[in-house]
Amino acid sequence: MSVLLINGSPRPKGCTFTALSIVANQLEKNGLQTQLVQLGAQPVRDCISCYKCAKTGQCVFKDDQVNELVDTLAGAEALVVGSPVYYAGPNASICALLNRVFFMKSSKYAFKPAAAVVSCRRGGASASFDRLNKYFTIARMPVVASQYWNSVHGNTPDEVMQDKEGLQVMRALGDNMAWLVKCIAAGKAAGINTPTPESWEATNFIR
Ligand SMILES: Cc1cc2nc3c(=O)[nH]c(=O)nc-3n(C[C@H](O)[C@H](O)[C@H](O)COP(=O)(O)O)c2cc1C
Repeated sequence: MSVLLINGSPRPKGCTFTALSIVANQLEKNGLQTQLVQLGAQPVRDCISCYKCAKTGQCVFKDDQVNELVDTLAGAEALVVGSPVYYAGPNASICALLNRVFFMKSSKYAFKPAAAVVSCRRGGASASFDRLNKYFTIARMPVVASQYWNSVHGNTPDEVMQDKEGLQVMRALGDNMAWLVKCIAAGKAAGINTPTPESWEATNFIR
């Protein structure tokens, strides 16, 4: 059983990485495997609304990690997305990446537990956390709770390590996610199937 963690920060060993590492460590303590993917500092294109992925199953842009990530996520049991807070929202690169990953094949991620983790110096954590949770809740992914909204505070990893409550929230998130992943596996083994979705009633508020 594996969990995919994505770090949207351009700083590979920064504050978001520090928070995600605590979650990953806790998942591993609970017997799950983890894979951390770093977005890094390379530009990430946003979705251009070409709808080609609906026909081919692939994003037209092949020069970044998106197509590979879609397959990795489809094969994982759960997802954790981490982002630094930029002007009270998730950073642009993680939103660009998630716009494409979710627009392409979100039905493949249904019923995989998911959680967002954000890191900020001082403010905007809740707004960023809310924004990221929107990707999961439109894709039928159960959102895993911790004991508070998932954020750490700091400008450096050292400062994050002083945020004792934030670190505890990360550990609780790891425990809670591992528990839910195991419950879902046990349910599946006992013959509890995921619901069959109705065909989509796509109304665009014009009729
Ligand atoms: C462009 C930019 C915008 C930022 N906006 C905010 C903000 O709105 N609120 C805040 O508390 N910190 C803000 N920060 C600070 C980062 O969110 C904070 O240092 C974060 O922990 C960095 O995480 P990282 O090391 O994983 O990149 C901003 C930083 C940058 C570079």
